[in-house]
Amino acid sequence: MKLPEGSKTAVLLQKLQWQFNSVGYMEAAQKKYGDFFIAPVLESDSAVFVSHPEALEQILHKQRSAVSAPGSLNEIMTPYHGNQSIFVLDGDRHQRHRQLLMPAFHGARMRVYGDLIGSITKQVIDQYQIDQTFSARSLTNDISLQVILETVFGLHKGERCFQLKQLIHSLFEDVRVPFIAASFLLPFLRKDLGAWSPWGYFVRQRQKIDDLIYQEIAERRSQPNPERTDVLSLLMLAQDEDGQSMSDQELRDELMTLLLAGHIITSSTMTWALYWIHKKPEVLQQLLAELDSLGESPEPTVISRLPYLTAVCNESLRIYPVEILTKGRMIKSPIEVMGYHLSPGTALYGCIYLLHHRQDLYPEPKQFKPERFLERKFSPYEFMPFGGGARRCIGEALAQYEMKLVLATLLSHYELELADNREARPQPPGTTFPPAVKMRLRGKRHSAKGLAKTQALLTNL
Ligand code: HEM
Repeated sequence: MKLPEGSKTAVLLQKLQWQFNSVGYMEAAQKKYGDFFIAPVLESDSAVFVSHPEALEQILHKQRSAVSAPGSLNEIMTPYHGNQSIFVLDGDRHQRHRQLLMPAFHGARMRVYGDLIGSITKQVIDQYQIDQTFSARSLTNDISLQVILETVFGLHKGERCFQLKQLIHSLFEDVRVPFIAASFLLPFLRKDLGAWSPWGYFVRQRQKIDDLIYQEIAERRSQPNPERTDVLSLLMLAQDEDGQSMSDQELRDELMTLLLAGHIITSSTMTWALYWIHKKPEVLQQLLAELDSLGESPEPTVISRLPYLTAVCNESLRIYPVEILTKGRMIKSPIEVMGYHLSPGTALYGCIYLLHHRQDLYPEPKQFKPERFLERKFSPYEFMPFGGGARRCIGEALAQYEMKLVLATLLSHYELELADNREARPQPPGTTFPPAVKMRLRGKRHSAKGLAKTQALLTNL
């Protein structure tokens, strides 16, 4: 039986390489060591990255009695989301939080959010001027932040909503963000040297956000409104099997978790999709033909089932999955997976990026080809942008629905173009990839059917 191998380079150097070029690090290791390799770049120095679909099915699903999903492997962002977040809980408490959170993100609830997502998209893009050049990431960030604030927090206007938006925006966009991200990976950098130091700035911004969240929770507790449908309201009402509901701190930590998970990742994925759609004119044409075939005001659920739009979203999630790894798993009792012996205490991460770039599953993996999702059905362990098993993403339905409705609204009603011909590359640091893509708003768009009608009217005049 084999043991996974890995680079002999000093651990700190490997961590730095990971921080600045995660894709290059993973591709080089896979080339040298194959589908299992040791990558001491996260919490555990003996962590193994796995990228074979059969092995992932074993680890995430079939061998669940020998593999746990401990929260201690996901502690990297604890200073941000706190220690009551679903990310860091394990065992029964993790199950309890999943039970409380999941109904709020169930597919059937998406109907409630459909019209909201379309109107937020229009409100945000309507603030841009014709011929204005803008960052695609700012556009998708503004949309996804507003979607999360409305769907999760139930906030759509007012001073608290405005302040939260400003604070969250500055927490993710400030020039000090790369230093703050480095402090998450290297705890000795977490030094509060005053308001201008990166960690001091982070701690103060977080405190201001916390104050607003606790104010909102207190207000909701004192004036309960059973009519509300946002996730916070559902969480405040939800009870587990023992009749327990969530404490204020649990609510705060979960809200911060959902903000982080739901806002930045979804917006980065939408940025990639906008880039690829406008980089490939044939993709844009095919999407517009599909969208126009639905007529003037299609139902959001009808849009969300469009085959080519779904294929474009899937291909965007495949080529640069914004979450390049699953959360960590831990071997509890010795097992053998595909000829590798894995001993207790070994941390495992599903390597979603490498899985999605396997030549045997995705020929020409660096090419953006939505049609591969129309030609073949991939198993849940061949295509897994949302992970699998005990920690599978709970926001999958919202993320997919949001992506499709935002793209459909933007493409059907506006003409956008890339501001330059540059190739967009994933951006460091860490494991998310917000690309720096500049776009231009050319104007409002009239659908092919609308144009034909106008032309007919003009000819009859
Ligand atoms: C395109 C957008 C998104 C992608 C690619 C994504 C991907 C992922 C992945 C890969 C995981 C880890 C799964 C595993 O370890 O098996 C995860 C976990 C999670 N995601 Fe998402 N996610 C997205 C959007 C969202 C949204 C919108 C929310 C909620 C608002 C959300 C909430 C969560 C939560 C709470 C977990 C942790 C689950 C647990 O630990 O039990 N995600 N996501």
